[in-house]
Amino acid sequence: MCGIVGYIGPDQAADVLLAGLRRLAYRGYDSAGITVVGDEALRTVKRAGKLDRLEAAVRETPLVGTIGIGHTRWATHGAPTETNAHPHSDCTGRISIVHNGIIENYQALKAELEAQGHVFTSDTDTEVLAHLIEREFKGDLAEAVRNALRLVEGSYAMAVVSQDAPGVLVVARQHSPLIIGHGPDAYYVASDVPALLHRTRRVTYLNDGDIARLTRDGVSLWGKDGSPRAPQIVTITWDVSAAEKGGYRHFMAKEMHEQPSALVDTLRGRLPASDQAAILSELEMTREELQKVGQVILIGCGTAYHACLVGEFALEELAGVPARAAMASELRYRDALITRDTLAVVISQSGETADTLAAMNRVKEMGARVLAITNVVGSSVDRAADKAIHTNAGPEIAVASTKAYTTQLSMLFMLALAFGEARGHLVPERARELRAAMRNLPEQAAQALAQEDVVNACASRFRGAHGALFLGRGANYPTALEGALKLKEVSYIHAQGYAAGEMKHGPIALVTPECPTVAVAVPGRVYDKMLSNMQEVRARGGPIIAVGVEGDHDLESYADAVIRVPRTEEVFSPLLAVLPLQLLAYACAVDRGLDVDQPRNLAKSVTVE
Ligand code: G6P
Repeated sequence: MCGIVGYIGPDQAADVLLAGLRRLAYRGYDSAGITVVGDEALRTVKRAGKLDRLEAAVRETPLVGTIGIGHTRWATHGAPTETNAHPHSDCTGRISIVHNGIIENYQALKAELEAQGHVFTSDTDTEVLAHLIEREFKGDLAEAVRNALRLVEGSYAMAVVSQDAPGVLVVARQHSPLIIGHGPDAYYVASDVPALLHRTRRVTYLNDGDIARLTRDGVSLWGKDGSPRAPQIVTITWDVSAAEKGGYRHFMAKEMHEQPSALVDTLRGRLPASDQAAILSELEMTREELQKVGQVILIGCGTAYHACLVGEFALEELAGVPARAAMASELRYRDALITRDTLAVVISQSGETADTLAAMNRVKEMGARVLAITNVVGSSVDRAADKAIHTNAGPEIAVASTKAYTTQLSMLFMLALAFGEARGHLVPERARELRAAMRNLPEQAAQALAQEDVVNACASRFRGAHGALFLGRGANYPTALEGALKLKEVSYIHAQGYAAGEMKHGPIALVTPECPTVAVAVPGRVYDKMLSNMQEVRARGGPIIAVGVEGDHDLESYADAVIRVPRTEEVFSPLLAVLPLQLLAYACAVDRGLDVDQPRNLAKSVTVE
């Protein structure tokens, strides 16, 4: 998974490409490179490591030219070295290509091309594309790309330039995101919108199978069947500052503190006081259709999977509908029991996660109706679902997901409420109470985030920790999993999230003074049980940080430190209880001087399996 950019216009391409890559670095940052089409030859510079190294190299050797392509890499095939960095070239050095995705049959293609005399210099799957295009090139670059791609199996978003096709940039998409930006006198190519926003708001989302040829005079676009079509242009309404740090030290900090306003945006128009059916009209499902749903399967990866677990609880609790959460990477290879009355709720911030897309397609084939909850309008999940609802959280740049998670939860709560009412599981009075509680969540989230100083003080307890346990039960079992995931991702402290009642079956062996336990102990039916579990940890010398609610002073006698969040309904409490855990992970990472927004080995959007 990688980020690609392209430019054709009046300006120096290198500057535009580097600025675009900087905004795509969240997609991968193992290496980066650019090619600029010069008067005499293509000039390529690439470097292993983060973008700074490429920028320094380009400063030393300026690349002159107004057409170019660029790439930031998250390694799949071949180590993250300079040789394997993109752009890649053919035997003659007259073709240069950047690619995001995986060419599944690259070994067979490589063997065939080598037998024909082509010489490969990298270990990447991408290089076969350069040699295939070289072989197929008869003067028309778009035609060569089309012929080459006929032989290719797998996924790609690619951009290619050739010394022998002056003034032309060709792009293609299959199962990997790619957009074209339209400027007044220039065209742009990128894997994602933030890379373009500093230049244009007018974009075309390419579909699978599309090939486009860009020149200074315009864009020619051909669909999967080879027939030409006019590019459809949409205008992006996000504020450009939303894609930048807005005064915070890290995107993660900015995005955590955006949660109250992001929640307002998610709930906007979906929770009116009088019209109970607001969300139903957006779902485009009638009450009868909701009543007929036999089971709900919630599908996602990583943090989105934890949202699925919260959704499972909320749907069973509020709607009385059988629900289960499934990891997309597991579900896609299982013979899951999907019936025609199954509603699949697919959750993905980016809408581009390969496993999520594959699992979604599988359940769809098996007859499930697919509802997507995504943050990215126009993403692959958005477009492939029967119906998509958008979290409207704004772009999330930090690899560790925060505002996407809490907005996903709020969407799931609304869904569960709508289901509950439609199915008669919630009496109107109770539904009104729940809706009122939901309306308070953005303000309560702000109050929870205001506890940052208390959380920061707790973070010092993690200095020298050998590991950490996160315990929760019931609605907040997923909160424990998400708290542990956040800590692992950004601070590299090993952490285990566990259902507190299961602790005595294994993890309790880990309890030592060097292993802090974070216990989510908010009011609910398992509160007393949580207190007992905390005592079990304390009795064995483990330090405890409790997440409890305001006014609960009993907790002090069970924990070494208490972080407080506002009270809400038990079913909604995961949305507030997770906030201090996000702050905690962030504080530990900052304390350790780590690269919070781009943790090692991770990527924001995993568009390969
Ligand atoms: C990656 C990210 C996670 C994210 C997961 C699913 O692993 O690092 O933060 O939760 O992908 O991403 P999605 O875009 O499908 O929600």
